[in-house]
Amino acid sequence: MWNYKYVPSDLISKRVKLNEVDTLKTLKSLGAMGVVENKVVSYFGSSLTFQGITLFSLKRLVEKGKLDMLGKKMGEGKESVVYNCYSEKYGECVLKFHKLGVSFRKIREKRDYGDLHLSVLTVRSAGREYRALKKLFGVAKVPEPFGWEGNAVLMELVDGRELYKLRLENPSEVLDAIIEEMRRMFIAGVVHGDLSQYNVLIAEDIYIIDFPQWVEVGRSGDERDEDINVNTDVNANENWKELLERDVENILKYFKKAYGIEKDINSVINYVLAE
Ligand SMILES: Nc1ncnc2c1ncn2[C@@H]1O[C@H](COP(=O)(O)OP(=O)(O)OP(=O)(O)O)[C@@H](O)[C@H]1O
Ligand SMILES: [Mg+2]
Repeated sequence: MWNYKYVPSDLISKRVKLNEVDTLKTLKSLGAMGVVENKVVSYFGSSLTFQGITLFSLKRLVEKGKLDMLGKKMGEGKESVVYNCYSEKYGECVLKFHKLGVSFRKIREKRDYGDLHLSVLTVRSAGREYRALKKLFGVAKVPEPFGWEGNAVLMELVDGRELYKLRLENPSEVLDAIIEEMRRMFIAGVVHGDLSQYNVLIAEDIYIIDFPQWVEVGRSGDERDEDINVNTDVNANENWKELLERDVENILKYFKKAYGIEKDINSVINYVLAE
């Protein structure tokens, strides 16, 4: 799917070692189930749908012994569906399936993805998130990443609640702790890019979540992410400094509105930037 919007059925047939007649039959029945989308262009081609990629990711996680049970849906947003799950290896954890949301449309407008099927970009987004968590775990307070397959990221379950849902007793301390995390992430070369009261979980500690938008400091975002074999440059041309300023601004605005705490934005930015 990195090469074709609709993968030719004869290629699929060779790849899965099934004769062409049976391949077509199978693709048609998968099409009826919504697992693939079939299209006759100048040839018969198929693409995995969101549901198809999700099933593929689940299968891989199970085959790799990383996932044993899927639990309740914990939330569904514009860009993800998050499930509670269980793994004999990791215990209770969280499985986040990336899906197509608003930002994918924005990316589309900004960049030429040629004729890629949009659902393939969910894989890129999941890869990006996994890579950020890998980079940050142990350095900043983020859930421990356990695996990435297709559009799914398996990670530690944080037993907490989103910042915006709580009435804090110690808001200044929490604000300082968030600023401290931003600084640690920055030192590790990461700007979150979508930080707000929705992406901070409060447990015994604070946790920063939701990283598909992150950018690497000092990199244009145009380079390839060699280590994960997928080009994850969804944020090309975005300037990390602007994103960092926006992150700081979002957090400060929230604390001002919710708790009346005021902090000077420039001094916070300078603090985060000072290595
Ligand atoms: N590791 C985790 N531990 C506990 N809960 C989590 C974890 N990761 C995600 N969640 C829950 O799932 C929700 C959505 O996750 P996340 O913020 O990563 O996705 P999202 O793409 O922002 O979804 P949305 O489109 O709604 O903004 C979080 O607000 C949180 O409630
Ligand atoms: Mg979120």
